[in-house]
Amino acid sequence: MSTVTNLTREDSEFDRLVQDDRVHRSVYVEPEIFAREMDNIFAGTWVYLLHESELPNVGDYRQAWIGTREVFVTRGEDREINVLSNRCSHRGAVICREFRGNATSFTCPYHGWRYDARGTLFGIPGKNAYGPTFKSRGMNLARPAQVAIYKGLVFATLNPNAVTIVEHLGNAASFIDQWLDHQGGWENLVVSGAQRFKVNCNWKMVYDNAGDGYHVPFSHQSLLVMTKERYGGGDMTYFADADRSNMPLHALDNGHSIVDQRPEMYATSAWDQQRPQPGREPFEAHVTQTVGANEAKAVLESAVGAGMNLCIFPNLLFIGNQIQVLQPVRVDQTYVLFNATRRRDGDEQLNAIRLRTQEDFPILGEMDDADNFEECQRGLTFNPEDEWVDISRHFETDKDIDGEDGIVTAPVTSELHMRNYYAQWKRLMKAHPILRVSKEKEAR
Ligand code: FES
Ligand SMILES: [Fe+2]
Repeated sequence: MSTVTNLTREDSEFDRLVQDDRVHRSVYVEPEIFAREMDNIFAGTWVYLLHESELPNVGDYRQAWIGTREVFVTRGEDREINVLSNRCSHRGAVICREFRGNATSFTCPYHGWRYDARGTLFGIPGKNAYGPTFKSRGMNLARPAQVAIYKGLVFATLNPNAVTIVEHLGNAASFIDQWLDHQGGWENLVVSGAQRFKVNCNWKMVYDNAGDGYHVPFSHQSLLVMTKERYGGGDMTYFADADRSNMPLHALDNGHSIVDQRPEMYATSAWDQQRPQPGREPFEAHVTQTVGANEAKAVLESAVGAGMNLCIFPNLLFIGNQIQVLQPVRVDQTYVLFNATRRRDGDEQLNAIRLRTQEDFPILGEMDDADNFEECQRGLTFNPEDEWVDISRHFETDKDIDGEDGIVTAPVTSELHMRNYYAQWKRLMKAHPILRVSKEKEAR
């Protein structure tokens, strides 16, 4: 079974809407463009769904989203991960209505059709009312065309012709690996829960900001001032003159990017630069006592955020030690999932202090950001004659440096991050992907 996307726009129109140094406001406010993004971008390329550690046991399930398309992900009896369309094969009701849980089977509340964790239909009330052709119709739950797991990170796409996940991640994969190393390796990472909140903005506002090294001293001024006045410094003071800092912005393949704070954070000790946290001193004493003074520094540094704003287009953000996921709802509404993480090898104290770090940043700081996202959406929506969003910062300063492996490095306040992902956005919006799901019995 397949769906062909609705193609009404001329390719050239996207060249007009997205130019090298500016973007038309309609890209943020027009429902028709949003609808096309849901097909061409969210269904047409790889999107992140969840981390395998969120489904540790057989029967565990969790809702997830491919843009606005609803799926749920299960761990079957064979311990395999299944990504299933959250839509009953009978008359279309949503089947999985809880965010997460554990179940041996899924019963549609409407007429009681039952599916197993692989989405196979095995129970129909009053089955003898169906004739001989019914079986051949394919009544299992639909599955997206491709599912791939990269080091515990589960991705899916409805595009059977999408490149492999490794090709899609491209030169961003090594940065994901480095982020995972900070968590003690990919098998050591446990995603332990999410704050999910709604922001009245287009999803791209959030993606724009995740690679924005420009806004920090202005948007987060109160946090910086408070830190300075109370504690005489803090781990974000270097943002005051960010372009002179040692934090590069790297534009990566396929719209991915990273703001790398590590050269500043870890130049001496990230732990020492950390703002005060409840439990900090007892934790430091505990670490020194448990592993000894020589080993203590490494453990303390591991409790601090990873120092990376790593953006994997279109919906996955590694920020500090959090995994953030974008779930577009409407052209002007987005859910953001803040997934807290802990380390399997960490004791209770380490994981508690890691959580305190995540509460500090991003959680505290991102409320400033969310306010800006909503104000940008208002500004763009209600002032239509003023048509353009400017993305030209460092466009003409000749500061981009081409490096190895196709990585382009720019000053941290450069809007290269946006120019880079908009190039991919445009490529995808011009494409004509066939989107496909499968309902075959043994589909994988
Ligand atoms: S809609 Fe699900 S059983 Fe009827
Ligand atoms: Fe911010």
